[in-house]
Amino acid sequence: MSRIHDALKKAEEERMASQGDPGPSSFAMPEAGELPMMAPLEEPRVVVDAGEPAGGVSHSSEMPSFASPFSLDALLARCPQLQWKPDEKTMLFFNGDDNAHGTEEFRTLRSRIYHTREKMALKKILVTSALPKEGKSFTSANLAQVLVRQHGRRVLLVDADLRDPRLHMMLGTTSSPGLSDYLQGGTDEFSIMQRGAMENLFFIPSGRQISDPSELVANGRLKVLLQRVEVLFDWIIVDSPPAVPVSDASVLAKACDGVLMVVRSNTTPAETARRAREEFPDQILIGVVTNGADHESSLSSRHYYDAYVKNVTESKS
Ligand SMILES: Nc1ncnc2c1ncn2[C@@H]1O[C@H](COP(=O)(O)OP(=O)(O)O)[C@@H](O)[C@H]1O
Ligand SMILES: [Mg+2]
Repeated sequence: MSRIHDALKKAEEERMASQGDPGPSSFAMPEAGELPMMAPLEEPRVVVDAGEPAGGVSHSSEMPSFASPFSLDALLARCPQLQWKPDEKTMLFFNGDDNAHGTEEFRTLRSRIYHTREKMALKKILVTSALPKEGKSFTSANLAQVLVRQHGRRVLLVDADLRDPRLHMMLGTTSSPGLSDYLQGGTDEFSIMQRGAMENLFFIPSGRQISDPSELVANGRLKVLLQRVEVLFDWIIVDSPPAVPVSDASVLAKACDGVLMVVRSNTTPAETARRAREEFPDQILIGVVTNGADHESSLSSRHYYDAYVKNVTESKS
């Protein structure tokens, strides 16, 4: 083995080791009503293979291959490209119209998330909410899409709602093999990943239906999965079950760097949202998305949002 190879391998091992421990963070909740600035989105890139930018597919024959199984080459070779048929009503970015209704809000959300990343180590984001049907999957899928629309960014979307998986339907693809198969053992990380036509968007569906989702989610393998593959991605977005009726979301949050809480405008009771929020430590709650606010309801939803954030602030003191 050449000295260069040794040095590169050591560098990659150090990079992977450092990515496994995001360290403590001190980020506070964003202010209610504060409009995010559309800051330039030049973030440090994740380098997967030495000399090769993330998102670019290069096969330089001069680069040595590493022993680590989690290389970009392995990802592209092992992850099948499937014929996704996205649901155009909910998948806002797939029809290529950057001005489609709703897309601006997701660009704003993206901008805020990048601002947050300036203050804390943030790559793996859990999207949750208090109750079913509040827009967790809708938010996860569109957030993943808006993140991947930035040139060269590579994003992994994970359907960790093993009770009511929806992302495969929104993307128009198969649900297995997927996460539940991995959590049960017997399959590796790349065997459960797929990609469609949207460059750099990778997906782990929920997998085969199982009878014991809570036990599977709590068995520790999800954390291992995310730690192993995170070196390959700029962002990992994890869709979750609702936080109030079941405990899965708070368990899943322990494998992520931050939690994004969705509240359905004029629908989620403030007390229920507050209970959901209490499931997560302050440090990892990175923000609240109000879903479904229209122009007519914006005034009342603003009042609601203010009240919610006030409750959050009070519960912190
Ligand atoms: N802002 C929105 N605009 C359009 N459709 C939405 C919106 N939010 C949610 N939906 C739709 O509402 C339904 C429930 O949302 P979903 O994301 O599946 O909820 P959850 O994951 O919280 O159970 C889905 O059909 C979804 O496409
Ligand atoms: Mg869902």
